[in-house]
Amino acid sequence: MAPKHIGDDARPSSCVGARVERGDEGAAATTTATMTKVALILGVTGQTGSYLTDLLLSKGYIVHGLTHSTWQNYPERLQHIMCESSPFRSRFVLHQGDILEFETLVRILHDVKPCEIYNLAAQSSVHLSFQQPLSTVKSVGLGVFNVIEAIRTVNPTIKLFQASSSEIFGKTTVFPQRETTPPYPCSPYANAKLMAHQAVIMHREAYGLYAVSGILYNHESSRRGANFVTQKIVTAAVRIKHGLQQQVELGNLNSRRDWGHAQDFVVCMWKMLQLDEPEDFIVATGKTHTVRQFVKFAFKAVGIDVKFQNSGTEEIGINKATGEVIVKVDPKYFRPDEPIQTVGDSSKAFELLQWQPEIDLAQLIEEMVTACEWRLIHGDKRTSTRIRGFAG
Ligand code: GDD
Repeated sequence: MAPKHIGDDARPSSCVGARVERGDEGAAATTTATMTKVALILGVTGQTGSYLTDLLLSKGYIVHGLTHSTWQNYPERLQHIMCESSPFRSRFVLHQGDILEFETLVRILHDVKPCEIYNLAAQSSVHLSFQQPLSTVKSVGLGVFNVIEAIRTVNPTIKLFQASSSEIFGKTTVFPQRETTPPYPCSPYANAKLMAHQAVIMHREAYGLYAVSGILYNHESSRRGANFVTQKIVTAAVRIKHGLQQQVELGNLNSRRDWGHAQDFVVCMWKMLQLDEPEDFIVATGKTHTVRQFVKFAFKAVGIDVKFQNSGTEEIGINKATGEVIVKVDPKYFRPDEPIQTVGDSSKAFELLQWQPEIDLAQLIEEMVTACEWRLIHGDKRTSTRIRGFAG
Protein backbone atom coordinates (compact mmCIF):
# COMPACT_ATOMS: atom_id res chain seq x y z
CA MET A 1 0.00 0.00 0.00
CA ALA A 2 1.35 3.41 -0.94
CA PRO A 3 2.20 5.60 2.04
CA LYS A 4 -0.35 8.22 2.70
CA HIS A 5 0.59 11.79 3.50
CA ILE A 6 -1.51 13.24 6.21
CA GLY A 7 -2.88 16.28 4.53
CA ASP A 8 -4.15 14.37 1.52
CA ASP A 9 -7.50 14.26 3.29
CA ALA A 10 -9.74 17.21 3.81
CA ARG A 11 -8.74 19.07 6.97
CA PRO A 12 -8.63 22.52 8.47
CA SER A 13 -6.24 24.75 6.53
CA SER A 14 -4.66 25.95 9.76
CA CYS A 15 -3.09 22.56 10.34
CA VAL A 16 -1.10 21.52 7.30
CA GLY A 17 2.33 20.00 6.99
CA ALA A 18 4.75 20.29 4.10
CA ARG A 19 4.28 17.78 1.28
CA VAL A 20 7.01 15.82 -0.41
CA GLU A 21 5.86 14.39 -3.66
CA ARG A 22 3.89 17.14 -5.28
CA GLY A 23 3.68 20.91 -5.27
CA ASP A 24 6.14 23.65 -4.57
CA GLU A 25 6.69 22.82 -0.94
CA GLY A 26 7.64 19.29 -1.94
CA ALA A 27 10.16 20.53 -4.46
CA ALA A 28 11.66 22.84 -1.87
CA ALA A 29 11.94 20.02 0.61
CA THR A 30 13.66 17.76 -1.92
CA THR A 31 16.11 20.45 -3.05
CA THR A 32 16.92 21.49 0.48
CA ALA A 33 17.53 17.86 1.36
CA THR A 34 20.82 17.99 -0.54
CA MET A 35 22.08 20.59 1.96
CA THR A 36 20.07 19.88 5.05
CA LYS A 37 19.93 16.76 7.14
CA VAL A 38 16.73 14.76 6.72
CA ALA A 39 15.44 12.57 9.54
CA LEU A 40 12.58 10.11 9.66
CA ILE A 41 10.89 9.52 13.03
CA LEU A 42 8.82 6.37 13.27
CA GLY A 43 6.18 6.83 15.95
CA VAL A 44 6.37 10.60 15.71
CA THR A 45 3.10 11.40 17.47
CA GLY A 46 4.10 9.89 20.79
CA GLN A 47 5.57 11.84 23.68
CA THR A 48 9.19 11.10 22.75
CA GLY A 49 8.60 11.50 19.01
CA SER A 50 7.19 14.96 19.52
CA TYR A 51 10.17 16.13 21.61
CA LEU A 52 12.58 14.65 19.10
CA THR A 53 10.75 16.51 16.33
CA ASP A 54 11.17 19.74 18.27
CA LEU A 55 14.88 19.08 18.76
CA LEU A 56 15.67 18.16 15.16
CA LEU A 57 13.70 21.08 13.74
CA SER A 58 15.57 23.41 16.07
CA LYS A 59 18.80 21.99 14.63
CA GLY A 60 17.71 22.77 11.07
CA TYR A 61 16.68 19.28 9.99
CA ILE A 62 13.85 18.46 7.63
CA VAL A 63 11.79 16.05 9.68
CA HIS A 64 9.49 13.37 8.30
CA GLY A 65 7.33 11.52 10.76
CA LEU A 66 5.39 8.30 10.41
CA THR A 67 2.28 7.60 12.42
CA HIS A 68 -0.26 4.84 12.17
CA SER A 69 -2.86 7.22 13.58
CA THR A 70 -5.56 8.37 11.20
CA TRP A 71 -6.70 11.88 10.55
CA GLN A 72 -9.45 11.34 13.13
CA ASN A 73 -6.72 10.99 15.77
CA TYR A 74 -5.14 14.31 15.03
CA PRO A 75 -1.73 14.47 16.72
CA GLU A 76 -2.17 17.06 19.43
CA ARG A 77 1.46 16.79 20.53
CA LEU A 78 2.49 18.18 17.13
CA GLN A 79 -0.05 20.95 16.84
CA HIS A 80 2.48 23.61 17.79
CA ILE A 81 4.55 22.55 14.77
CA MET A 82 1.77 21.94 12.27
CA CYS A 83 -0.26 25.09 12.83
CA GLU A 84 -0.08 28.00 10.39
CA SER A 85 1.89 30.22 12.76
CA SER A 86 4.72 27.74 13.27
CA PRO A 87 8.05 28.71 11.70
CA PHE A 88 8.87 25.00 11.48
CA ARG A 89 5.81 23.91 9.56
CA SER A 90 7.48 23.85 6.14
CA ARG A 91 10.22 21.52 7.38
CA PHE A 92 7.89 18.94 8.87
CA VAL A 93 6.04 16.23 6.94
CA LEU A 94 3.65 13.76 8.50
CA HIS A 95 3.11 10.39 6.80
CA GLN A 96 0.52 7.83 7.67
CA GLY A 97 1.43 4.16 7.68
CA ASP A 98 2.53 1.20 9.74
CA ILE A 99 6.10 0.04 10.31
CA LEU A 100 4.88 -3.50 9.77
CA GLU A 101 4.13 -2.61 6.11
CA PHE A 102 7.43 -3.16 4.34
CA GLU A 103 6.35 -1.49 1.09
CA THR A 104 5.33 1.62 2.99
CA LEU A 105 8.72 1.91 4.62
CA VAL A 106 10.60 1.31 1.37
CA ARG A 107 8.51 3.89 -0.47
CA ILE A 108 9.03 6.50 2.24
CA LEU A 109 12.77 5.85 2.38
CA HIS A 110 12.99 6.21 -1.41
CA ASP A 111 10.93 9.40 -1.34
CA VAL A 112 12.38 11.29 1.60
CA LYS A 113 15.97 10.00 1.59
CA PRO A 114 16.63 10.27 5.32
CA CYS A 115 20.15 10.14 6.70
CA GLU A 116 18.85 9.25 10.17
CA ILE A 117 15.91 7.10 11.26
CA TYR A 118 14.61 7.01 14.83
CA ASN A 119 12.43 4.01 15.59
CA LEU A 120 10.07 4.92 18.42
CA ALA A 121 7.03 3.18 16.96
CA ALA A 122 5.46 0.47 19.06
CA GLN A 123 2.91 -0.44 21.67
CA SER A 124 4.57 1.07 24.76
CA SER A 125 2.48 -0.09 27.72
CA VAL A 126 4.05 -2.90 29.73
CA HIS A 127 0.73 -3.52 31.46
CA LEU A 128 -1.15 -3.86 28.18
CA SER A 129 1.44 -6.28 26.84
CA PHE A 130 0.21 -8.92 29.31
CA GLN A 131 -3.26 -8.63 27.75
CA GLN A 132 -2.09 -8.28 24.16
CA PRO A 133 1.17 -10.24 23.97
CA LEU A 134 1.14 -11.09 20.28
CA SER A 135 0.32 -7.66 18.92
CA THR A 136 2.94 -6.24 21.28
CA VAL A 137 5.58 -8.66 20.05
CA LYS A 138 4.69 -7.76 16.47
CA SER A 139 4.95 -4.00 16.83
CA VAL A 140 7.82 -3.94 19.34
CA GLY A 141 9.82 -6.99 18.28
CA LEU A 142 9.19 -7.50 14.58
CA GLY A 143 8.85 -3.85 13.58
CA VAL A 144 12.56 -3.23 13.80
CA PHE A 145 13.32 -6.13 11.42
CA ASN A 146 11.16 -4.39 8.83
CA VAL A 147 12.91 -1.10 9.41
CA ILE A 148 16.35 -2.69 9.10
CA GLU A 149 15.41 -4.60 5.95
CA ALA A 150 14.04 -1.39 4.42
CA ILE A 151 17.33 0.37 5.24
CA ARG A 152 19.32 -2.48 3.68
CA THR A 153 17.10 -2.39 0.59
CA VAL A 154 17.13 1.35 -0.01
CA ASN A 155 20.31 2.74 1.51
CA PRO A 156 22.51 0.88 4.03
CA THR A 157 24.29 4.09 5.02
CA ILE A 158 21.19 5.42 6.79
CA LYS A 159 21.82 5.60 10.53
CA LEU A 160 19.24 3.92 12.78
CA PHE A 161 18.36 4.71 16.39
CA GLN A 162 16.29 2.02 18.10
CA ALA A 163 14.38 2.84 21.30
CA SER A 164 15.37 -0.01 23.58
CA SER A 165 14.09 -0.16 27.16
CA SER A 166 15.23 -0.63 30.74
CA GLU A 167 12.52 -3.28 30.88
CA ILE A 168 14.96 -5.70 29.19
CA PHE A 169 16.82 -5.95 32.53
CA GLY A 170 13.61 -7.04 34.26
CA LYS A 171 14.40 -9.13 37.30
CA THR A 172 18.12 -8.43 37.33
CA THR A 173 19.82 -8.18 40.70
CA VAL A 174 22.40 -5.74 39.33
CA PHE A 175 21.94 -2.12 40.45
CA PRO A 176 22.56 0.18 38.69
CA GLN A 177 22.31 -1.46 35.29
CA ARG A 178 24.95 -0.83 32.65
CA GLU A 179 25.21 -1.59 28.94
CA THR A 180 26.87 -4.89 29.90
CA THR A 181 24.25 -6.01 32.45
CA PRO A 182 22.71 -9.34 31.38
CA PRO A 183 19.02 -9.04 30.42
CA TYR A 184 16.27 -10.83 32.36
CA PRO A 185 12.95 -9.70 30.81
CA CYS A 186 9.74 -10.44 32.71
CA SER A 187 6.89 -9.24 30.48
CA PRO A 188 5.82 -9.79 26.86
CA TYR A 189 6.80 -6.16 26.22
CA ALA A 190 10.27 -6.68 27.68
CA ASN A 191 10.81 -9.87 25.69
CA ALA A 192 9.86 -8.07 22.51
CA LYS A 193 12.14 -5.13 23.35
CA LEU A 194 15.00 -7.55 23.97
CA MET A 195 14.35 -9.20 20.60
CA ALA A 196 14.55 -5.80 18.91
CA HIS A 197 17.64 -4.88 20.92
CA GLN A 198 19.45 -8.07 19.89
CA ALA A 199 18.32 -7.62 16.27
CA VAL A 200 20.03 -4.23 16.16
CA ILE A 201 23.30 -5.70 17.45
CA MET A 202 23.07 -8.67 15.11
CA HIS A 203 22.47 -6.56 12.00
CA ARG A 204 25.17 -4.10 12.98
CA GLU A 205 27.71 -6.88 13.32
CA ALA A 206 26.55 -8.90 10.31
CA TYR A 207 26.14 -6.07 7.79
CA GLY A 208 28.15 -3.19 9.22
CA LEU A 209 25.07 -0.99 9.57
CA TYR A 210 25.12 2.11 11.75
CA ALA A 211 22.33 0.84 14.00
CA VAL A 212 22.27 1.60 17.71
CA SER A 213 20.03 1.07 20.72
CA GLY A 214 19.43 3.61 23.44
CA ILE A 215 18.38 1.68 26.53
CA LEU A 216 15.82 4.21 27.70
CA TYR A 217 14.68 4.37 31.32
CA ASN A 218 11.27 5.86 32.14
CA HIS A 219 10.96 9.25 30.52
CA GLU A 220 8.06 11.49 31.37
CA SER A 221 6.77 15.00 30.72
CA SER A 222 3.62 17.07 30.49
CA ARG A 223 3.05 15.29 27.15
CA ARG A 224 2.99 11.84 28.78
CA GLY A 225 -0.02 9.64 28.03
CA ALA A 226 -2.68 9.28 30.72
CA ASN A 227 -2.17 5.51 31.14
CA PHE A 228 1.35 5.88 32.56
CA VAL A 229 1.69 6.17 36.30
CA THR A 230 3.27 9.63 36.52
CA GLN A 231 0.55 11.32 34.45
CA LYS A 232 -2.14 9.34 36.24
CA ILE A 233 -0.86 10.48 39.65
CA VAL A 234 -0.29 14.12 38.69
CA THR A 235 -3.72 14.37 37.05
CA ALA A 236 -5.37 12.85 40.11
CA ALA A 237 -3.50 15.18 42.47
CA VAL A 238 -4.62 18.25 40.53
CA ARG A 239 -8.22 17.04 40.24
CA ILE A 240 -8.40 16.11 43.92
CA LYS A 241 -7.06 19.54 44.84
CA HIS A 242 -9.88 21.12 42.80
CA GLY A 243 -12.53 18.81 44.26
CA LEU A 244 -13.14 17.06 40.94
CA GLN A 245 -12.08 13.62 42.15
CA GLN A 246 -12.02 12.01 45.58
CA GLN A 247 -9.25 9.44 45.33
CA VAL A 248 -6.92 7.61 42.98
CA GLU A 249 -6.49 3.83 42.75
CA LEU A 250 -3.01 2.56 42.00
CA GLY A 251 -1.18 -0.75 41.71
CA ASN A 252 2.30 -1.53 43.00
CA LEU A 253 3.43 1.35 45.23
CA ASN A 254 6.75 -0.33 46.08
CA SER A 255 8.01 -0.43 42.53
CA ARG A 256 11.08 1.79 42.03
CA ARG A 257 11.68 3.58 38.75
CA ASP A 258 14.42 5.78 37.33
CA TRP A 259 12.28 8.67 36.05
CA GLY A 260 13.81 11.24 33.71
CA HIS A 261 12.46 13.91 31.38
CA ALA A 262 11.76 12.94 27.74
CA GLN A 263 13.21 16.24 26.55
CA ASP A 264 16.60 15.35 28.04
CA PHE A 265 16.48 11.87 26.59
CA VAL A 266 15.94 12.93 22.97
CA VAL A 267 19.17 14.95 23.15
CA CYS A 268 21.06 11.78 24.01
CA MET A 269 19.29 9.89 21.21
CA TRP A 270 20.39 12.49 18.68
CA LYS A 271 23.96 12.52 20.02
CA MET A 272 24.12 8.76 19.61
CA LEU A 273 23.71 9.14 15.85
CA GLN A 274 26.43 11.79 15.58
CA LEU A 275 29.31 9.49 16.58
CA ASP A 276 31.64 7.99 13.97
CA GLU A 277 31.17 4.46 15.28
CA PRO A 278 27.85 2.93 16.38
CA GLU A 279 27.51 2.26 20.13
CA ASP A 280 24.64 1.32 22.45
CA PHE A 281 24.02 3.48 25.52
CA ILE A 282 22.11 3.47 28.78
CA VAL A 283 19.95 6.62 28.94
CA ALA A 284 18.98 7.20 32.58
CA THR A 285 19.19 9.63 35.47
CA GLY A 286 20.82 7.21 37.92
CA LYS A 287 18.23 8.12 40.58
CA THR A 288 15.38 5.86 41.56
CA HIS A 289 12.18 6.44 43.55
CA THR A 290 9.19 4.36 44.54
CA VAL A 291 5.74 5.00 43.12
CA ARG A 292 4.75 5.87 46.71
CA GLN A 293 7.41 8.59 46.80
CA PHE A 294 6.20 9.93 43.47
CA VAL A 295 2.69 10.15 44.91
CA LYS A 296 3.96 12.15 47.88
CA PHE A 297 5.97 14.52 45.67
CA ALA A 298 3.09 15.09 43.22
CA PHE A 299 0.53 15.77 45.95
CA LYS A 300 3.00 18.01 47.77
CA ALA A 301 3.37 19.99 44.54
CA VAL A 302 -0.35 20.81 44.66
CA GLY A 303 -0.24 21.61 48.37
CA ILE A 304 -1.49 18.32 49.82
CA ASP A 305 0.56 16.32 52.35
CA VAL A 306 -0.07 12.59 52.07
CA LYS A 307 0.53 10.10 54.88
CA PHE A 308 0.58 6.37 54.04
CA GLN A 309 -0.61 3.67 56.39
CA ASN A 310 -1.26 -0.10 56.32
CA SER A 311 0.42 -2.36 53.78
CA GLY A 312 -0.26 -4.53 50.76
CA THR A 313 -3.71 -4.15 49.23
CA GLU A 314 -4.86 -2.45 52.46
CA GLU A 315 -2.41 0.42 52.08
CA ILE A 316 -3.99 3.85 51.88
CA GLY A 317 -2.79 7.40 51.46
CA ILE A 318 -4.46 9.97 53.68
CA ASN A 319 -4.70 13.72 53.25
CA LYS A 320 -2.97 14.84 56.46
CA ALA A 321 -4.97 18.05 56.63
CA THR A 322 -8.45 16.54 56.16
CA GLY A 323 -8.05 12.88 57.10
CA GLU A 324 -9.62 11.86 53.80
CA VAL A 325 -8.41 8.73 52.01
CA ILE A 326 -7.10 9.96 48.69
CA VAL A 327 -4.96 7.01 47.56
CA LYS A 328 -6.00 3.36 47.50
CA VAL A 329 -4.50 0.18 46.11
CA ASP A 330 -6.45 -1.70 43.49
CA PRO A 331 -4.99 -5.11 42.54
CA LYS A 332 -6.34 -4.75 39.03
CA TYR A 333 -3.32 -2.54 38.35
CA PHE A 334 -0.86 -5.21 39.53
CA ARG A 335 1.16 -6.95 36.83
CA PRO A 336 1.87 -10.69 36.82
CA ASP A 337 5.55 -9.81 37.14
CA GLU A 338 7.74 -6.72 36.84
CA PRO A 339 11.14 -5.24 37.70
CA ILE A 340 11.27 -4.30 41.40
CA GLN A 341 13.67 -1.50 40.67
CA THR A 342 15.14 0.15 37.61
CA VAL A 343 18.15 2.41 37.92
CA GLY A 344 20.60 3.05 35.13
CA ASP A 345 24.24 4.05 35.02
CA SER A 346 24.66 6.39 32.07
CA SER A 347 28.33 7.17 32.68
CA LYS A 348 29.19 5.84 29.21
CA ALA A 349 26.89 8.47 27.68
CA PHE A 350 28.53 11.10 29.86
CA GLU A 351 32.02 10.06 28.78
CA LEU A 352 31.46 9.53 25.05
CA LEU A 353 28.55 11.90 24.35
CA GLN A 354 29.02 14.49 27.09
CA TRP A 355 25.37 13.87 27.89
CA GLN A 356 23.69 14.07 31.24
CA PRO A 357 20.10 14.88 32.19
CA GLU A 358 19.36 18.48 33.16
CA ILE A 359 15.79 18.30 34.46
CA ASP A 360 15.37 16.70 37.88
CA LEU A 361 12.32 14.94 39.28
CA ALA A 362 11.07 18.01 41.19
CA GLN A 363 11.18 20.13 38.02
CA LEU A 364 9.50 17.37 36.05
CA ILE A 365 6.65 17.14 38.52
CA GLU A 366 6.28 20.90 38.67
CA GLU A 367 6.01 21.05 34.87
CA MET A 368 3.46 18.24 34.77
CA VAL A 369 1.36 19.88 37.48
CA THR A 370 1.46 23.27 35.76
CA ALA A 371 0.40 21.78 32.43
CA CYS A 372 -2.34 19.75 34.06
CA GLU A 373 -3.70 22.80 35.89
CA TRP A 374 -3.69 24.74 32.63
CA ARG A 375 -5.57 22.01 30.77
CA LEU A 376 -8.09 21.81 33.55
CA ILE A 377 -8.77 25.51 33.50
CA HIS A 378 -8.66 26.02 29.73
CA GLY A 379 -9.85 22.62 28.56
CA ASP A 380 -7.15 22.62 25.91
CA LYS A 381 -4.40 20.03 25.75
CA ARG A 382 -2.21 21.96 23.35
CA THR A 383 -0.56 24.16 25.91
CA SER A 384 1.06 21.16 27.51
CA THR A 385 3.38 21.09 24.50
CA ARG A 386 4.52 24.62 25.23
CA ILE A 387 5.60 24.23 28.82
CA ARG A 388 9.01 23.10 27.70
CA GLY A 389 10.18 22.50 24.18
CA PHE A 390 12.96 23.21 21.73
CA ALA A 391 10.63 24.44 19.01
CA GLY A 392 7.37 24.81 20.83
N1 GDD B 1 0.60 2.44 34.53
C1 GDD B 1 0.43 2.28 35.87
N2 GDD B 1 -0.79 2.50 36.42
N3 GDD B 1 1.50 1.88 36.58
C2 GDD B 1 1.32 1.74 37.92
C3 GDD B 1 0.10 1.97 38.55
C4 GDD B 1 -1.02 2.37 37.78
O1 GDD B 1 -2.13 2.59 38.25
N4 GDD B 1 0.25 1.77 39.88
C5 GDD B 1 1.53 1.42 40.07
N5 GDD B 1 2.19 1.38 38.89
C6 GDD B 1 3.60 1.04 38.69
C7 GDD B 1 3.84 -0.04 37.64
O2 GDD B 1 3.58 -1.32 38.19
C8 GDD B 1 5.32 0.22 37.34
O3 GDD B 1 6.11 -0.43 38.29
C9 GDD B 1 5.46 1.73 37.52
O4 GDD B 1 4.29 2.17 38.20
C10 GDD B 1 5.62 2.50 36.23
O5 GDD B 1 4.58 2.08 35.34
P1 GDD B 1 4.35 2.84 33.94
O6 GDD B 1 4.25 4.30 34.15
O7 GDD B 1 3.21 2.15 33.27
O8 GDD B 1 5.72 2.63 33.14
P2 GDD B 1 6.62 1.31 32.96
O9 GDD B 1 7.78 1.43 33.91
O10 GDD B 1 5.84 0.07 33.02
O11 GDD B 1 7.15 1.46 31.45
C11 GDD B 1 7.55 2.71 30.91
O12 GDD B 1 8.95 2.87 30.94
C12 GDD B 1 9.68 1.90 30.18
C13 GDD B 1 11.16 2.22 30.33
O13 GDD B 1 11.48 3.39 29.69
C14 GDD B 1 7.02 2.74 29.47
O14 GDD B 1 7.24 4.01 28.92
C15 GDD B 1 7.73 1.71 28.62
O15 GDD B 1 7.32 1.84 27.25
C16 GDD B 1 9.24 1.95 28.72
O16 GDD B 1 9.95 0.98 27.97
